[in-house]
Amino acid sequence: MYRPDMPDDVVARAVEHDDVTPTFLNQAVAVLDRAFGRWPQVSLRDDVSAVDHLAWKASGPIPGFPAFLAAEVDGQLAGCRTVLVRRVLVRGEPKLFVHFVDAAVDPAFQGRGANRATQELMYGTYQSRFDLSIDDSNNPHMIRGRRRLGGGTEAFGNAVRPMVLPLDASRVARAESGRLPTLIATLRLRAASRLAQLRARGQRGHATACAIREIDSFDQRFDQFCARAVAGFEFVPERTRAFLNWRYADRRSGSFTILVAERETEVLGYVVCIERAETTHLADILVDEDEPSVAGALLDEIVQHAEIAGSAAVSGWLAEDHPYRAAFQARGFVPLGGTSIVYRAVSMPAEELAFLERSDASIHFTYGDTDFI
Ligand SMILES: CC(C)(COP(=O)(O)OP(=O)(O)OC[C@H]1O[C@@H](n2cnc3c(N)ncnc32)[C@H](O)[C@@H]1OP(=O)(O)O)[C@@H](O)C(=O)NCCC(=O)NCCS
Repeated sequence: MYRPDMPDDVVARAVEHDDVTPTFLNQAVAVLDRAFGRWPQVSLRDDVSAVDHLAWKASGPIPGFPAFLAAEVDGQLAGCRTVLVRRVLVRGEPKLFVHFVDAAVDPAFQGRGANRATQELMYGTYQSRFDLSIDDSNNPHMIRGRRRLGGGTEAFGNAVRPMVLPLDASRVARAESGRLPTLIATLRLRAASRLAQLRARGQRGHATACAIREIDSFDQRFDQFCARAVAGFEFVPERTRAFLNWRYADRRSGSFTILVAERETEVLGYVVCIERAETTHLADILVDEDEPSVAGALLDEIVQHAEIAGSAAVSGWLAEDHPYRAAFQARGFVPLGGTSIVYRAVSMPAEELAFLERSDASIHFTYGDTDFI
């Protein structure tokens, strides 16, 4: 809510990577904490602080963009947003997308235009440097803010949705707390999961022999593997060795488990997950195009990890029409709930993204492509 009675003294400025000091990070975490009630909401290792996590988030920069946008009042930090810019392959062409995360304004300064000021700075100064934006916030301010920028925001025609394997259907049903009584919701979930398995039975195909092991980081083989494995997708955020190590192997990012499937020294696929008591989240899964059964083998391992962790469910995002879908269904994964991901052409022609409206556009976009986990 805008409060025109408040002083109009907010100043937005870009915080360049070289200017990210411990003092700034501490102030930013305090703002984030006060704005969100608790920050971060992802689970960190015990020895990683919120400040470490924020420093990690702003690391691995793409040239030409600042680390943060800050809104200040009398030199005091009133609000900030983290600038996450990443590469995405759009029909094989590398493009840059900005992903808006962590927009936060200290409650004491809300309604004075601080958030709007950082948004205007982002678009006013950097708009011509990124091709598209991806946003997954369903906060009404953010939705209205997007509309004000003009142009259309679109949901993928091939919807990216959570696929959930209920390991303890009654716990999942209770957590979903829909309108159905828990018992009926539980039975329905179990039946849907069983039906998915039965339907996928005939589609299993031959199983590739591979060995699966846990790794701490992605070695030099992954650049080549990723380039091959993403080639079939028309829209896929970058997966390179450097990105994967930053995203999942840097201990400041979270406590991820990384599994690789190999045939001798050849990488056939990887999966990344984070185990929690309630849900084991699949951050990413990528397999060799010619070996789709490897996805199933990796999922089986993850299910075992989830069972050991006592999770009620395993959940991962997957486009409705996706080459790994049969592997998910064969294990009893069912679509449950939706996402609020939208994309918007910024400095690239909107027509070049028009194919994303098709329900069969080939999209790989997972939890780990956002900062939800
Ligand atoms: C969401 C949040 C970032 C908004 O910050 P804020 O600084 O209070 O927002 P602003 O003051 O810039 O904008 C508030 C409203 O006043 C309007 N406004 C601001 N300056 C204005 C001006 N000069 N003239 C007219 N209207 C103005 C804005 O357009 C906005 O209207 P909207 O709700 O229709 O979009 C803040 O409430 C927050 O931190 N919330 C908790 C964290 C959160 O949920 N973050 C978003 C999810 S990632």
